[in-house]
Amino acid sequence: MLGTYGSCAKIAYYKDRPVAQILYYPEEAIKTRAFKRKEVLVISCTYNPVADAQKLGIGTRLLKSVIQDARQKKTCLGNRPCKFIIAKAFNTGEALPLPEFYRKNGFIPTPRNDALYLPVASSYEEETPIREYEPLPEDLGKAVVFYGPICQFSFPFANRIVDLVKQVAPNITIELVNEWENPQESIRRKNWWLIVNAKPIRTFFMATERFKQEVKEAVDGKT
Ligand SMILES: CC(C)(COP(=O)(O)OP(=O)(O)OC[C@H]1O[C@@H](n2cnc3c(N)ncnc32)[C@H](O)[C@@H]1OP(=O)(O)O)[C@@H](O)C(=O)NCCC(=O)NCCS
Repeated sequence: MLGTYGSCAKIAYYKDRPVAQILYYPEEAIKTRAFKRKEVLVISCTYNPVADAQKLGIGTRLLKSVIQDARQKKTCLGNRPCKFIIAKAFNTGEALPLPEFYRKNGFIPTPRNDALYLPVASSYEEETPIREYEPLPEDLGKAVVFYGPICQFSFPFANRIVDLVKQVAPNITIELVNEWENPQESIRRKNWWLIVNAKPIRTFFMATERFKQEVKEAVDGKT
C-alpha cells in the first residue's frame, strides 16, 4: 500500500505515547471488491482505545486532518481529487461507537447503513450492489473464515472467530483464508467474512452468545 499509494494511516501521540490511529485507503486498492469506485477514499477505522487520552479531541483531530488532506488532494489518491469519503461504521461496544463519531463530524448515513459518507469534491455515488451469496457445494459441512491486511485486528479477530466456531462445532473443518492472497475466494462468497455450512453469518462475533447461536443454527442446517 505504501509503495503503490503512499501513506494510508495517521497515528496520534499524547504525552509521547502513540494512543490513537486512523486508517484509510483508496477504494480502488481493494482486491476483493468486484466493483470499485474511483477517486473515493475509504476510512476503515478510527480508534482511540487509551482511556486517559479519550474525550480530549484526539479522534476528531485525526479525522479532520484526513478530511483536510482530501480537500487539498494530499491523500493516498495521489494528486487526484477525492469525490467523497466513505467511513466504515461498525460498533465494537467500546468507547464512542463509530457511527455516532462520524455523524458528529458531518458524515451522512449511506442507504445500506453500514457506512457513512462525506462529500468532498463531488456528491455521493451509490455503490453497485453485489448479489446475495448463493450456497456453494464445497462450503457444505465446513466453515470459511476470511481475514485481510487492511486492519491489524483482522487476523486476531479471525482467530477468535475460529475459536468460537470450534466451541460450537468442535469437529467442523475450518478454512482460514487471506482474502488479499485469494481475492476470488472472497468475491465468490460476496465478501462475507464467515460462511458456515454454506450459510453467511450475519451477527458480529463480539455479540458472542448471539453469534454462537447463529453458527449453531447454520451447522444444524436451520435457516
Ligand atoms: C470514536 C473515538 C475514536 C473517539 O476518540 P476520542 O479521541 O475520544 O474523540 P474526541 O475526544 O475527539 O471526541 C469526539 C466527540 O465524541 C465525544 N465522546 C468521545 N468518547 C465518548 C464516549 N465514550 N461517550 C460519549 N461521547 C464520547 C466527545 O465528547 C466529543 O464530543 P463533541 O464533539 O460533542 O465535543 C473513540 O471513542 C473510539 O476509539 N471508539 C471506538 C471506535 C472503534 O470501535 N474503532 C474500531 C476498533 S477495531
